[in-house]
Amino acid sequence: MPAGFVLVADEADIGEGEVAGAFATGHPVVLCRVRGKIYACSSECTFDDGGDLSKGELDAYRLKCPDHGCEFDIRSGRIISGPADEQLPTYEVRIEGGHVWVSHRPRGF
Ligand code: FES
Repeated sequence: MPAGFVLVADEADIGEGEVAGAFATGHPVVLCRVRGKIYACSSECTFDDGGDLSKGELDAYRLKCPDHGCEFDIRSGRIISGPADEQLPTYEVRIEGGHVWVSHRPRGF
């Protein structure tokens, strides 16, 4: 088990282009697989009432919030289009033994 990481899913459960909700030490994250790689970010949109991004639409690296349509880049959390003005927290992902591990803390914290 990598130190500072928590087990959140089996790698085989996240298909290409899929979005899946999971829990990492009590906070909800969203897992997305693009071009074979799995990314993790907060599942709470940073805008207003915090829309559930695990129900968002994924288009390549672009994750769209189902509530008011904010779009975030899942690689960096960068806002692609508003109305959010705060970027989305992202997490480091490790794959070990067919399992997906996500860092306890978001990048930069
Ligand atoms: S809550 Fe995500 S765009 Fe409004």
